[in-house]
Amino acid sequence: MSLSHRDDQKEVVNVGRRRLLTSGAAGGATLLASATNALSASKPDPAITEIQDWNRYTGDGVDARPYGTPSAFEKDVVRRNVPWLTADPIASVNFTPLHELDGIITPNGLCFERHHGGIAEIDPAEHRLMINGLVERPLVFTMEDLMRFPRVNRVYFLECAANTGMEWRGAQLNGCQFTHGMIHNVMYTGVPLRLLLEEAGVKTAGKWVLPEGADASHMTRSIPLEKALDDCIVAFKMNGEALRPEQGYPVRLVVPGWEGNMWVKWLRRIEVGDQPWHHREETSKYTDLLESGKARRFTWEMDVKSVITNPSPQAPLTHGSGHTVLSGVAWSGSGKVKRVDVSIDGGRNWQTSRLDGPSLSKSMHRFYFDFDWDGSEMFLQSRAMDENGQVQPTKNQLREARGPNSVYHNNSIQTWHVKPDGSAENVEIS
Ligand code: MTE
Ligand code: CO
Repeated sequence: MSLSHRDDQKEVVNVGRRRLLTSGAAGGATLLASATNALSASKPDPAITEIQDWNRYTGDGVDARPYGTPSAFEKDVVRRNVPWLTADPIASVNFTPLHELDGIITPNGLCFERHHGGIAEIDPAEHRLMINGLVERPLVFTMEDLMRFPRVNRVYFLECAANTGMEWRGAQLNGCQFTHGMIHNVMYTGVPLRLLLEEAGVKTAGKWVLPEGADASHMTRSIPLEKALDDCIVAFKMNGEALRPEQGYPVRLVVPGWEGNMWVKWLRRIEVGDQPWHHREETSKYTDLLESGKARRFTWEMDVKSVITNPSPQAPLTHGSGHTVLSGVAWSGSGKVKRVDVSIDGGRNWQTSRLDGPSLSKSMHRFYFDFDWDGSEMFLQSRAMDENGQVQPTKNQLREARGPNSVYHNNSIQTWHVKPDGSAENVEIS
């Protein structure tokens, strides 16, 4: 966007910038190599000896970007979808580019989207949240009403129960964006659901709540009252700013540690009842058919899980052997991640990685493993453990427990095969 803006205004600067854009990737690689070989470089490095356009001319003023967007060189850092996965893009999903991110927070524009009836575009002035059912006082809140309740800030991951679901029977999608990208980690601001339920006064018979979305899918899920009173949040901000329309603007439910489907977006109603409703999303969907013919249901909590994001198929090693930074993310729906072990030989030997950044309950954790790569092929794996002693299983252990037919709740160990040329591929080790 800002480039076409420059096209109109600064002809001279543009010629140079366009050239730089097309040679951006190669230029970056040269720079890295020259940084490590600076003293032995035989030819002068133009990145040092030449005065660059950005050093010669003034740039955009403060009126050019009223809402900031990333550098044009970051244009490939985007959500992506897999067209053959769903019949249309309305009831569909796209994926967070995990291999491009660091730290623990997912930027708002990169949070994966999953909606069953498209994005509802809601005028907050017209939006209402109703609490009805087994309550002393049925209530209707405007957004302004919600803003007058005491609020909290909490960082939580949201993982779709179907994340990694396509990998049950074998390695399929080539990139952690696609295998593990149905997750984001955001700081939410909102009102504890407990305060709103207390305002309405839950009757003694009330044991369950049913949040409902205002979108065309009318998303509904049964949530036990205990969880609703514990840590659920009616959130209106993400990472400090208003929720994005795709994340449920103006208000969504946050259900920490539990499967993404329960985090109802565009929240318009919460009914209190005495038993679960057994709606579509908790019967025909979001249940796992076992080999016995029985199905697991109400599998709310997301299990301990991790994935190496770098290197990975979309983020190969381009620098050759030597100092290498391996990185990834880990999370658990039951609390904090305590340890992440890493193997470069397909699970024969394990070493403990370095967790860095805030360690928050039911939030993503970042891990690093700094090592000297000898340039030979590697089978990279990570295995997370949480503070409650739960350990990520191998794929075979998971299939032994749940059979071959499941989709949801695949928290098994992922393997990337890194070849001597640094490229990486999704594989399975038996
Ligand atoms: N809420 C409504 N109203 N409509 C929906 O389609 N999708 C659910 C949940 N809440 C959905 C919804 C599913 S399956 C998931 S995984 C999460 O929202 C996705 O949240 P996100 O789009 O912020 O990533
Ligand atoms: Co989902």
